[in-house]
Amino acid sequence: MQSENKRKPIVAGNWKMNRTTDDAEALAGGVVEGVLGLNGVEVVVCPPFTALERVARVLEGSTVSLGAQDMHWEAEGAYTGEISAGMLLTCRCRYVILGHSERRAYFGETDATVNQRLKAAVAVGLAPIVCVGETLEERESDVTDQVVRKQITGAFQGVTGEAAQTVVVAYEPVWAIGTGLTATPTQAEAVHAFIREVIGQLYSVDVANAIRIQYGGSVKPGNAADLFTQPDIDGGLIGGASLQADVFADIVKAVP
Ligand code: PGA
Repeated sequence: MQSENKRKPIVAGNWKMNRTTDDAEALAGGVVEGVLGLNGVEVVVCPPFTALERVARVLEGSTVSLGAQDMHWEAEGAYTGEISAGMLLTCRCRYVILGHSERRAYFGETDATVNQRLKAAVAVGLAPIVCVGETLEERESDVTDQVVRKQITGAFQGVTGEAAQTVVVAYEPVWAIGTGLTATPTQAEAVHAFIREVIGQLYSVDVANAIRIQYGGSVKPGNAADLFTQPDIDGGLIGGASLQADVFADIVKAVP
């Protein structure tokens, strides 16, 4: 598919289960300072739930947006331990990561529950960052395309084209997350272009061209530019390297 790139790149830091509220506040402050004046890229930080409020205060008046790492699909009720989309909105979240491979692997998330979450998020105006990606075994068995097609189709089931355009997709090959192994720019671009093609089939070329697709998996300042300059890669979802403000800022600066 012809990729017409008018999309604003987006780089998000997924802090995972790291940083107490005090440390999160300091890290967020460092990010705000580190990306000052960079206008061509959207920057998001996703701290643990416990730090959302405090980080929101640090981000106030800056260009950096706030995201959460997960949410439940119900608005409220007897779901011990869960957090709803509405609660995230009151913490001033704009984004929410959904279907991260760690949630799928350790907490039983499936394409169906990712879909429920996605629908609940877009219904209240929260923008999902939906993660998809194959395991090493799947890549070696040459089924990456099938796996990713199933995850994308499942996530977007019953979502209108208008709502779909607010979604960010993060392609994160499971074998590249936290391992130091990165997909080569060519490997990553091939899957990104394929994801855009699948979205085009589900909706339209216009919707496919509007959706931003981030790459994630061991992105560092040294490999970010080669990844981010690929035509279908619209920034990144950064784990380990987002825990140091200066390193994260260097990755943001790698956006062309
Ligand atoms: P990583 O994690 O950058 O530490 O590989 C990426 C992610 O899990 O989102």
